[in-house]
Amino acid sequence: MERRTFLRNSSLAAASLLLPNALRAQSPLEVRTNAEALQNLEDKALTTIAFGSCNNTAKDLSYWSIIQKDNPDLWIWMGDNIYADLTTLKQREARYNFLKTYPLYQDFRAKTAVIGTWDDHDYGFNNSSGTYWSREQSQALFCDFMDIDKYAATRSQDGVYQSYVFGPAGQRTEVILLDLRYNMNNSLTHRELLGEDQWRWFEDRMKSTTADLLVIGSSLNVTSPVALLGLEGWTGYPLEKQRLYDALSMTDKPTVMLSGDRHFAELYRVLLPSGKVIHEAMSSGLTHSTGAWLPHPGRISPMIGSKNYGVLKVDWTGTGPVINMQIKSCDSYGVLAEALTRYGA
Ligand SMILES: [Fe+2]
Repeated sequence: MERRTFLRNSSLAAASLLLPNALRAQSPLEVRTNAEALQNLEDKALTTIAFGSCNNTAKDLSYWSIIQKDNPDLWIWMGDNIYADLTTLKQREARYNFLKTYPLYQDFRAKTAVIGTWDDHDYGFNNSSGTYWSREQSQALFCDFMDIDKYAATRSQDGVYQSYVFGPAGQRTEVILLDLRYNMNNSLTHRELLGEDQWRWFEDRMKSTTADLLVIGSSLNVTSPVALLGLEGWTGYPLEKQRLYDALSMTDKPTVMLSGDRHFAELYRVLLPSGKVIHEAMSSGLTHSTGAWLPHPGRISPMIGSKNYGVLKVDWTGTGPVINMQIKSCDSYGVLAEALTRYGA
């Protein structure tokens, strides 16, 4: 049987030995490190994956007690995890630390493995790209917040893209998190999102994955045909979007894209030119939302304009995963929208 590699590019090998003591006891509530929590999931078929984006730490953060009720296996930060536009690095670090020591989030982290990617407001500033002058220092602060191992490639490569594999053969989930900021070129004449190194890595993951479910995090909306009026999204990068769809078509594994950023939530089902069907669950934001009504031929939910987080519920009891994509309320515990997709028999 193939030997599974748990963490593809952010080696946690012997993580419990490598982590400094400071990471071991951040609060009396924390009975294990995040690395240990992730390792505990290595052989678990994930059944509850929660995610969210757009988290202004100056606003109400009490929603953590609501998300906790879902008891997720895994939490995925989908970007704009703090708002630190044009702050000094010290101020950015202070905002990360404020969130990390916020009691309800601390309690949540003590029970839940946490991974994530970033977007413009935590990376640099609104709509910031690869020209951001402090991107390397910002990468270090992000990795500290995420408890990424000090030897992991995520700290040294051009961007914070990562891949994680959970669960046994037949019930295996690979979570791939893209970095859309570090290599972004958003000039009018040259449109780029991932950069060649990240593209090669991602295409290799698509060709070689052994997962039964692919969950791919993109901070920006993937399938919306609208990228106007200041809204960012893959549609504003047509060649990159085509390359993404080509890469997703390299495997027939069930694929759910996660995204955020837009301050409202929707669920989509999209038929790629190759004939492959993908789903997208966009959740935004955790602390603020506005709502917008934009055309999308693949929308399979109402538009949710109130504060929200997302949950993927996965049932592995059949021959393929049955996936319930949910948008849930940050104001009171409950489902705002959901869509069920059944793979296999
Ligand atoms: Fe954003």
